[in-house]
Parts: sequence; structure tokens; C-alpha cells
Amino acid sequence: MNKISIAIDGPAAAGKSTVAKIIAEKLHYIYIDTGAMYRALTFKALQSEIDINDEESLIPLLKETEIVLNPGESGQRILLDGIDVSTEIRTAEVTNSVSTVSKHKQVREEMVARQQRFGQEGGVVMDGRDIGTHVLPDAEVKVFLLASVDERAARRHAENLEKGFPSDLALLKEEIAKRDKLDSEREVAPLKKAEDAVELDTTSLSIHEVVDRIMKLVEERIQ
Ligand code: CDP
Ligand code: CDP
Repeated sequence: MNKISIAIDGPAAAGKSTVAKIIAEKLHYIYIDTGAMYRALTFKALQSEIDINDEESLIPLLKETEIVLNPGESGQRILLDGIDVSTEIRTAEVTNSVSTVSKHKQVREEMVARQQRFGQEGGVVMDGRDIGTHVLPDAEVKVFLLASVDERAARRHAENLEKGFPSDLALLKEEIAKRDKLDSEREVAPLKKAEDAVELDTTSLSIHEVVDRIMKLVEERIQ
């Protein structure tokens, strides 16, 4: 069976990583969480007290930074220069700064080059904001996941509570809406549906239903 590439884009908490992981497991494909790469760089920049608005400081930092995505038994682990930062990159501090780091042209060029190397053999499910438009423009299956801001904030809130993290629903809603705006309005590779992507509004769909719909698109392409 030929191995295809699957691009899943959409705004925060639309369910991208959850469904991408399940689909990758079903197909025995590699899953690449590109958001985790931007988060890892953001974490390192904050730790190094680098001005995240200054592209000229971020670029040398990124060039000397190794980011490895390791499929582990308890989910994917993110290794930053050999250290597992899977938890640290999900803090509110990183979340609130990541869209500033990811707006820079040269940062994106370097990240996209790395992501394309990860995906060059096919057999990959990649999720992010610009996968269908820039990273894997030739992906055989492209999906753009949507859900209302209220639903997405409620999902993140439930997830936080389940993990025992502090969570404020109103604040989450604000944070998500702000990040949507920054990611959609930036000049370079903004969050945008690729022309040939299938749009899926998941507001009232279960994870299982979303996975089923995407698997149908996949099956049509690998037959
Ligand atoms: O999981 P969540 O939706 O909260 O975000 P994420 O996928 O971890 O992505 C974090 C941030 O990285 C996004 O808000 C974007 O600013 C940036 N990002 C990007 O610019 N391009 C990508 N392909 C993936 C993420
Ligand atoms: O990767 P992204 O930020 O797009 O979202 P996610 O982290 O995969 O999903 C955010 C939360 O929504 C997770 O806790 C999922 O279990 C949940 N979810 C859901 O309740 N219903 C869906 N159809 C998809 C995701």
C-alpha cells in the first residue's frame, strides 16, 4: 500500500493533535506535532531571556537548537537539546508567547525546512497551521478542522481539569481568541485553509466521528 502524507490544520484546540495521533496509529504512520516545535523554541527563548520580538536573536538560537519528536509509550515526547520538555512547553507562559515567536519569517523558514525533512518519506500525519499551505503542499489528504471558540475553550478547560492543572474558562477563551487572531493575521504563512483542504466543523462531533471522516478521505486516496 502506498504511503501518503496527511496535513491537518486549524486553530487552537480544534482537536488536531488528538485525531492526528489516532490516525497515525491506525495507519502506522509517523505523527509530527509542528506546534510543539514552535513551543520548544519559545520555551528556550524565554529561559534564555531572549527578546522574542527580535528575529535576529531568535535565529542563532534556533540554529543551535535540536528539537526531536519521539513517539513514546505515554504519547509523543518532545526533546529539546536532549531534555524532555513535553510538559514545560504547555504552560500558559509558553502558550501566551508562542504566536510572537512563530510570526518571524526566518524562524518559519527554518522550522518548515526541518518539518519537510521529517515528512520527506511520506507516511506522515502532520498537524499545525500551515501544513497544507506551506509545509506539505502536495499532501494527498488535507483537512482543516474548525470548532467554535466556546467549544474549543471548553475542551481545553476540561483537559486542564482532568490533568489537575489550574484552569479558568473565561481566560482560556480570551487566550484562544487572541492566538487565533495573531496566527490568522500574521504576514508569513498565516493560519488559513488550503484551497484543496476539506473543512470539517467539529463543534458537535466526537473525536471518533472526526477520525472516521478523515479515515474515509484517507481510504479514498490509498486504494
Ligand atoms: O495545541 P494548540 O492548538 O494550543 O497549539 P499548537 O499546535 O501547539 O501551536 C502553538 C502555536 O505555534 C500556534 O498558536 C502558532 O502560533 C504556532 N504554530 C505555527 O505557527 N505553525 C504551525 N505549523 C504550528 C504551530
Ligand atoms: O491539537 P489541538 O490544539 O487542535 O487540539 P487537541 O489538543 O487535539 O484537542 C483539545 C481537546 O479537545 C482534547 O482534550 C481533546 O480530547 C478534545 N476534543 C474533543 O473533545 N472533541 C473533538 N472532536 C476533538 C478534541
